[in-house]
Amino acid sequence: MFTLKNVCKTFKPSRGLGRELSAWLGSLGGRREDDDGVKAVRGVDLIIRPGEILGLVGESGSGKSTLGRIMAGLYLPDEGTVLFDGHDLTNLDKEGWKKFRRRVQIMFQDPVSSLNPRLTAGAIVEEGLVIHKMGTATERRARVLSLMEEVGLPADSVNRYGHQFSGGQRQRLSLARALSLDPELLIADEPVSALDVSIQAQIINLLMDLKARRGMTLVMVSHDLPLVRILADRLAVMYGGMIMEVVDREFLETVRHHPYVMSLWASAANEGFSHILEGEPPDPQNPPTGCPFHPRCREAIDICREQRPQLLQHDPGFACACHRRDKLEFSRQLPL
Ligand SMILES: Nc1ncnc2c1ncn2[C@@H]1O[C@H](COP(=O)(O)OP(=O)(O)OP(=O)(O)O)[C@@H](O)[C@H]1O
Ligand code: SF4
Ligand SMILES: [Mg+2]
Repeated sequence: MFTLKNVCKTFKPSRGLGRELSAWLGSLGGRREDDDGVKAVRGVDLIIRPGEILGLVGESGSGKSTLGRIMAGLYLPDEGTVLFDGHDLTNLDKEGWKKFRRRVQIMFQDPVSSLNPRLTAGAIVEEGLVIHKMGTATERRARVLSLMEEVGLPADSVNRYGHQFSGGQRQRLSLARALSLDPELLIADEPVSALDVSIQAQIINLLMDLKARRGMTLVMVSHDLPLVRILADRLAVMYGGMIMEVVDREFLETVRHHPYVMSLWASAANEGFSHILEGEPPDPQNPPTGCPFHPRCREAIDICREQRPQLLQHDPGFACACHRRDKLEFSRQLPL
């Protein structure tokens, strides 16, 4: 479905007047003169399989949302290729983009800022149908009502505005909007992390239900490893803009994980494990040479500081980017 090859995205510092402003802001915040941008995604290779739930996991700032937005066609990579059903996104014409937008949808973490406050719920859900000239006004209205029902919102809520809904209801509305064009792939970027814990399970259940019923592919972006573990068929773990490990759920218990991934599991368990993560994540404006994890990795040797490890398929259902992958006896037992 999706094939990403060596995908890179750097957010360049602003130019002209904006640059002066950012230099002034930088002088307050310590930004450097030789600033060549934030390297958010650095050489990602990844395939999305039709019908799967792929969990894209990592700490804050690791590049998950940027990668999700690249898959959704909201950002173009500045290096590498993104192929969707064999079509290179950088070469799509207007018609090609229109088709792509019907097939791939994204929903965001913050349902307040992602919903237009001037539109009613009905208009929000109908918007995509209007843009894509689908059905008559009567047919569209019926479709909106059936989508509202599908996501568990009362029919009379079509005339309400975004701010009149609770957080969980807004995320239901975001889902109805994302589903209005029957997408084949839905990218859900931290869909529940802004919600109360009591509401999170409802939205996750709804998402899983809809995914199963519609046979969609789902990319679930999340910093919550234990949550993603329950849901995902495969987990891809990002660090410093790169993918450290991709593992099928069925091999989760049996493979020897990447040192960073072990640390992440240990941090999630939060007690008594030897791989607890120490230190800070890398500065995306000035990432470490070689393996981005080397300043925090207790297993690091010289080559780790010099050469970037490639993401290699080691076992069926398991790829890992670590120079020492075959030399280390990482624990086989996940702490969770
Ligand atoms: N539009 C942008 N302009 C400049 N820098 C950006 C932009 N979007 C993201 N970044 C930077 O790129 C890096 C990766 O950000 P990204 O949002 O992809 O990470 P993330 O893994 O989704 O983090 P989080 O868990 O906090 O959502 C961060 O350093 C972030 O500050
Ligand atoms: S490549 Fe080296 S620094 Fe990176 S995770 Fe492996 S052992 Fe650690
Ligand atoms: Mg994010």
